[in-house]
Order: sequence, then structure tokens, then C-alpha cells
Amino acid sequence: MFTESAELYDLIYSSFKDYGTEAAQIAALLESIDPVYRTVLDVACGTGEHARLLAEIHGFTVDGLDLNPEFLRIARAKNPAGQFFEADMSDFHLPTRYDVILCLFSSIGYVKTLDRVAQTLRCFRNHLAGDGVVILEPWFPPDKMRTGHHSERTGQSPDVRVRRVGTTEVDGRLSRLRFEYTIENGSGTRQATEVHELGLFTIDEMLAAFAAAGLIGPLHHRRNACGICRGGTNGRTPTRGSRRSRSVHCPDCCLTSA
Ligand SMILES: C[S@@+](CC[C@H](N)C(=O)[O-])C[C@H]1O[C@@H](n2cnc3c(N)ncnc32)[C@H](O)[C@@H]1O
Repeated sequence: MFTESAELYDLIYSSFKDYGTEAAQIAALLESIDPVYRTVLDVACGTGEHARLLAEIHGFTVDGLDLNPEFLRIARAKNPAGQFFEADMSDFHLPTRYDVILCLFSSIGYVKTLDRVAQTLRCFRNHLAGDGVVILEPWFPPDKMRTGHHSERTGQSPDVRVRRVGTTEVDGRLSRLRFEYTIENGSGTRQATEVHELGLFTIDEMLAAFAAAGLIGPLHHRRNACGICRGGTNGRTPTRGSRRSRSVHCPDCCLTSA
């Protein structure tokens, strides 16, 4: 995964990803669902940038969880008030229950299989407070991804310059992203490669996994409300949920449910 690039992550993503706007839109979405929500667990938190903004700017109490110790080191430095746990999102046991569980920027894809998605959502359910909510930003469904997609990103600080070239391969229900890095700093230039594998799940499969985990309820759909969505609802009517608690589902972007 991010074996070569954890310390370069913020440099690369801050060049094109607007964490400030995303955090503001998440805060507004949460406010509209229930203004008393306060505690947040950011699962697969990476370097803790959403966590930092949600805490510093929007007043939430935010903890985080990630598999990668290097990301956690950075996240802890940015978020001294939060607790950041090293754990696998599909199998974790924390002492606290949260109003809100976030799993953003397609991190769910990294669990690769639907069985592990189901396991992950059960874990989320077990860590939610009574009337809590999950916001999950999915990876692409199988029909939206193709082999041969090419991307190029650069990032620069006074000390280091990085260029990342990405290519995508689709292998059945798995997408494979190959990243080639060129990293230049005071001591020279080095090359590095990472291969990331993410599972491709349909919206119906994701919704079924939410339901199977007990994460379903009356639905509130807000078109493009999350700010992390990728292009609206394609004209589909959002499914109406039912039963015990609340959920929000934007069919092409975020799934929020409790
Ligand atoms: C694309 S990054 C997103 C990071 C952060 N949420 C953001 O928006 O910048 C994906 C993250 O998922 C984490 N991750 C991948 N598999 C995981 C797992 N099984 N359990 C916990 N974290 C995982 C990676 O370490 C990485 O931090």
C-alpha cells in the first residue's frame, strides 16, 4: 500500500484534494442529521487531515484508526487531543462508542472482498452509539473503472519534490493501481513503486452489506450534500430505507447509515 509514500502523502494530496471543503461539508451534513453529534471515529484516517479539521474548525472530538503506523505517527502529531489506534478496519475492538464513524476517500476498497466489507460494517455497527451514523465514501463500482486509466500528480515543499504517475488495471472485481514515484531531495533522486489493490463493489452490494450489518433506517437523501461525491445521482431515485434508526444514502457517492 503506502509503503513508500506515507511521508509524502500530504504533499501529493494537498495539491488537488480540498480537505477543508470536505470537512465543512461533512460537518454540515452531520449538523443536518443531528446537531448533538460530537464524537467521531475516522476509520482509515491516513495522516489525520479530516480529523484535524473536524476537531479544530468544527468542534468535534475525533479519534482515528489506521493500519499504517507511519500514517498514525503523522495523524497523532496533528491531533494531539485525539486517540489514534493501529488496527485493521475489518477487525477492531475499541472501548468507546461514537456518534459518527467516517470511512472516507474510498478506503473501504482496500478490504478487497465483500465478505470483508460485511465484517468491516459489523465492526462499525458495534462501535456506534445508539443513534449514531456511518458516513462511507465508496470506491468505484465495477462498471465505472477501466484498465489503462493514467494519472499524474506532483507535490513540492522547500525540501522535496515528488512526481507520481499512476496506472490502473481492472482484474475481475479487483482494481490494481500502480504508482511510480520520482522523489527528489537534497541528497538526490530516487524511484519507488507501490501497487494498491482495491475491491470493486456495486451500489446494491454495498447497500446489502449495510443492511446485513444492521445499518439501515429511514432514509434522508441529500444530493451532493457530502462534497466528496463523484457526480450526483445519475437520475436514480434514492432507495427509501426503513426500520429502526436513520440512514442517508447518496447512490453514487456517500452511504450514510445508522
Ligand atoms: C486513500 S487513503 C485515505 C486516508 C484518509 N482517510 C484520507 O482521506 O486522506 C486509504 C487509507 O486506508 C488505510 N487502510 C487500508 N487498509 C486498511 C485496513 N484494513 N484497516 C485500516 N486502515 C486501512 C491506509 O493505510 C490509508 O491510510
